[in-house]
Amino acid sequence: MIIGLIDSGIGGFSILRATQKALPHHMYVYLADQANFPYSQRSTKNLIELAKEHARVLIEKHNCSLIVLACNTLSVAALAAVRTAFPDTRFIGTVPPVNVAAKSLGNDANILVLSSERTAKSEYLQQLLENLSGPNWEILGSTDLVEAIEAGDAAKVKQVLTAIRDSYPKITFSGIVLGCTHFPLVANEMQETWPDAELFSPSDGVVKQLKQISPVEPTEQLSSTPLFLTTPDYSSSLQLEKRYHATL
Ligand code: DGL
Repeated sequence: MIIGLIDSGIGGFSILRATQKALPHHMYVYLADQANFPYSQRSTKNLIELAKEHARVLIEKHNCSLIVLACNTLSVAALAAVRTAFPDTRFIGTVPPVNVAAKSLGNDANILVLSSERTAKSEYLQQLLENLSGPNWEILGSTDLVEAIEAGDAAKVKQVLTAIRDSYPKITFSGIVLGCTHFPLVANEMQETWPDAELFSPSDGVVKQLKQISPVEPTEQLSSTPLFLTTPDYSSSLQLEKRYHATL
């Protein structure tokens, strides 16, 4: 099966890494919409248009039969719309793993949900949390953090994480939910910032759904390396490929 993944930049690498590891028998096409990064600053209408156009290219030009929105922001804005627009293609969205965190840490926990600004403000996240009223949830959206990770600026990542931690002087978090696919790429830095907190990454949920839809077929051949595409022209990108291998 040929599986497409879409993110605004390199964030979806965290999803690709997990899916490739769990289901290495598939072929993966990774699209980084770098021309429209960051997604958090775009309207829902615009994100729906972008998601539809990217899905069309992945389906028509690259024969993808399943597409992962490897981006929380795009999933919140456009998952329902692409499912309606392309009824013959399977779509999987990326959800902040708040359920897993609540179950694992219990009702007395302080849990920080870190995401893009758009996801932080979304009704979708509010609704997810309404059903999980036990723990104390704090929600923070940071475009600065997304941009620092995309730019590979380690000093800025550290500075933004420290500022976030210091903005909650009275709360000790036992869990951090990574509600943006860029964030697992700096998991080590996060763990250094909150040494006592457990991190919850969105990739586990995607892998679980993918396994349900497409169980591993041992007779299939191992896939070649993923194809990396970038916008505006959907050209293949050696730079992205190199960056992906450098983050492994
Ligand atoms: N990786 C995207 C996400 O999961 C980044 C958001 C953005 O581009 O603003 O939300």
